Amino acid sequence: MTHPNNDRLTDEPFLVVEDLTVKFPTADGLVNAVSGLSYSVELGKTLGIVGESGSGKSVSSMAILGLHDAKRSQITGSIRVGGKELLGLSEDKMRPIRGNQVAMIFQDALAALHPFFRVGAQLSEAYMVHNPKASKRDARKVAIEMLDRVGIPQPDRRYSDFPHQFSGGMRQRAMIAMGLINNPQLLIADEPTTALDVTVQAQILDLLGDLQREYNSAVVIITHDLGVIAEMADDVLVMYAGRAVEYGAAKELLTHPEMPYTWGLLSSVPDVSADTDARLIPIPGNPPSLLRPPSGCAFHPRCVHTSKVPGDLCFTELPELVPGQRGGMHVKRCHLVNPDEIYRAEVLPEIAPDLAEENQ
Ligand SMILES: Nc1ncnc2c1ncn2[C@@H]1O[C@H](COP(=O)(O)OP(=O)(O)OP(=O)(O)O)[C@@H](O)[C@H]1O
Ligand code: SF4
Ligand SMILES: [Mg+2]
Repeated sequence: MTHPNNDRLTDEPFLVVEDLTVKFPTADGLVNAVSGLSYSVELGKTLGIVGESGSGKSVSSMAILGLHDAKRSQITGSIRVGGKELLGLSEDKMRPIRGNQVAMIFQDALAALHPFFRVGAQLSEAYMVHNPKASKRDARKVAIEMLDRVGIPQPDRRYSDFPHQFSGGMRQRAMIAMGLINNPQLLIADEPTTALDVTVQAQILDLLGDLQREYNSAVVIITHDLGVIAEMADDVLVMYAGRAVEYGAAKELLTHPEMPYTWGLLSSVPDVSADTDARLIPIPGNPPSLLRPPSGCAFHPRCVHTSKVPGDLCFTELPELVPGQRGGMHVKRCHLVNPDEIYRAEVLPEIAPDLAEENQ
């Protein structure tokens, strides 16, 4: 099914983020939350954004919906949806786009549902805001259908529940229903399954996949979990300290990663390769401060490969995003000249010995 209100102005991908920078002035100085971030997502495709806590995943996504307070943030670059520039739009112009053409499922379902209003009424309200001609009865019908779609049992009865009467998994489903009620062409799902048990997590991800196929929407899924990425994403963007450090097709990036930070993420999620002998190796150290990011490559204080780079480049020069060794759209931000060889010789045997043997 193609989208009913497909009003695209150009042939470029549906979502184009270009050179996005988000800074927050604070009492301690300027927080460089997102720096020079560029990516794009076609309709019908899913981009997975992955990175540790504080890497700028939520801040960059919230910028797409115009959710940063203009007085407390400095945002530059370009965010185009269906060819239309969203950066700099007034709140009045942004409101009809938010929740209708572009919707977001937030990290914290409890915070996003108002505790004093019944779940169904919040859903109906979300529908009526963008469908002002709809009657209350119609809105209620659509809301109940949507609750049913996301797997809420007895949706007509649960329609009248308050959020606290829903379990965590059901609240997350209600959030997804809220995000999808106006068939958005672009859906941003920020950690949609965090804090849910594994079974519910799998159901929610399946549901998102099904709905996306049905509506041919563009989806951005934000997660800490490379397992989720492996299952859902067509493309992957790895973020570190507010920047893209690796970006490419999921199949390519997950099998031939070229940036030591991505190696670290893969090493700490061994089930991506489904390899039973895999070892779980956490990345040493902590994410850097965005107030005073490290010089050179922001990952250098935690990277064990700096000695393979000539001179002191890792410590002094920010690597550009450059094409990967195997071509395609794969890019990485690292000074290593032969990362694919290092990955296969040193990293793969540590995290997936069976795979490493097969590759020889
Ligand atoms: N309003 C703000 N003022 C100052 N700093 C902020 C503000 N909002 C976010 N930040 C900072 O921006 C950085 C990026 O935050 P962001 O929420 O995007 O991280 P994240 O990648 O989504 O992490 P998590 O995985 O924990 O959700 C963090 O260092 C955060 O403290
Ligand atoms: S540029 Fe240097 S410090 Fe950064 S990831 Fe590459 S090898 Fe490590
Ligand atoms: Mg976040």
